[in-house]
Amino acid sequence: MLVLGIETSCDETSLALVSDDGPLLEKTALQEEVHSLFGGVVPELASREHLRLIGPLCEALFSQAGRAPRDLDAVAVARGPGLLGSLLVGLGLAKGLCLATGAPLVGVNHLHAHLLAAGIGRTIPYPALGLLVSGGHTQIWRMTSDFDFTLLGRTLDDAAGEAFDKTAKMLNLPYPGGRYIDALGRGVEPDHRLFPRPHLADPGLDFSFSGLKTAVAEHVRGNPGLRLARMPGPGEDFDPALASPGTRLACASLNWAVADTLRIKLFRAIQAFGPFSSLIVAGGVAANSRIRDMAAAVAERMGLALVLPPLALCSDNGTMIAHMGLKLARAGLGHDLGLDAIPRGKKIPWDYRVLPLRESRVKDPPG
Ligand code: KG4
Ligand code: ZN
Repeated sequence: MLVLGIETSCDETSLALVSDDGPLLEKTALQEEVHSLFGGVVPELASREHLRLIGPLCEALFSQAGRAPRDLDAVAVARGPGLLGSLLVGLGLAKGLCLATGAPLVGVNHLHAHLLAAGIGRTIPYPALGLLVSGGHTQIWRMTSDFDFTLLGRTLDDAAGEAFDKTAKMLNLPYPGGRYIDALGRGVEPDHRLFPRPHLADPGLDFSFSGLKTAVAEHVRGNPGLRLARMPGPGEDFDPALASPGTRLACASLNWAVADTLRIKLFRAIQAFGPFSSLIVAGGVAANSRIRDMAAAVAERMGLALVLPPLALCSDNGTMIAHMGLKLARAGLGHDLGLDAIPRGKKIPWDYRVLPLRESRVKDPPG
């Protein structure tokens, strides 16, 4: 089977081809330069950029992979949650390709795709405890198969990624700032009393990161010297060693406060909903080195298999959409061309229909 995956839910335009043997090729265009000046994604600009980039990216993908749209057995597309205008660009391309080739359409839940991306190239031992930490979401899931997900906890306000991105903005670092905070804090002993580990008094599995953001804002306001004198330009080499010790301490302490909050909620989830066979940590924030170390420690202590995506598959990417799309198509599940985009905050229904059996196509006709 050959499946195209289309990801346009936020500000990455990413297309990928995945076959039964695994990922073949991915083409991704970032929009960081467009949004970095604003300190966050501007939805109107994001959808216009997707529209500008997606056609040439699609042509480049097929020509570099030596494949053609007619080779596709399914077209998988992120249907949400995400920015509505951005999702519609991906859905437009997906439906166009389906109309032109007759390939079936498979709408993919972007959040589930993040979690399953950790299993690319390996098998996920179920039941799995899934922690999804990204720019828009912080969630804990119980997963009993590739298609059975139960939400156990979620953020009540800001996502973990927002705590990183807003802190970066206060420190005069570019958007998205998580990776700068990660780099600045690396190798620095955190101050455990500097920032609170939020929402731990609540015994449940929900998160709330807005208080942490406020605590960082107050700290930076009281110590204006923490702000970098000049924001590093897009793609500019950035030496964390040149930042002040106070800035690095604040970053290390934020990395610790977020990682330790996640650690405590993971232990609670294991106690309340275990036993689990594996721990998955996925999403853009799963690239954070302190969070990866924390996950490894939790998995070791609880005897769980640790399933982390490689760094390239943490942030939004077309490969994860194609990977989950291929699993769904193989199970005979897809959508008709009425498939709609679903914005952030709305639940994604499990509304697959059984795909009509297709004639098997001869990929390489003899002669
Ligand atoms: O999954 P993703 O690409 O997009 C969403 O679906 O939201 O996640 C993006 C988020 C941003 O908030 C970004 O700052 C954060 O992931 N991020 C990191 C790191 N790399 C990316 N946060 C902390 N440490 C990192 N190394
Ligand atoms: Zn994402």
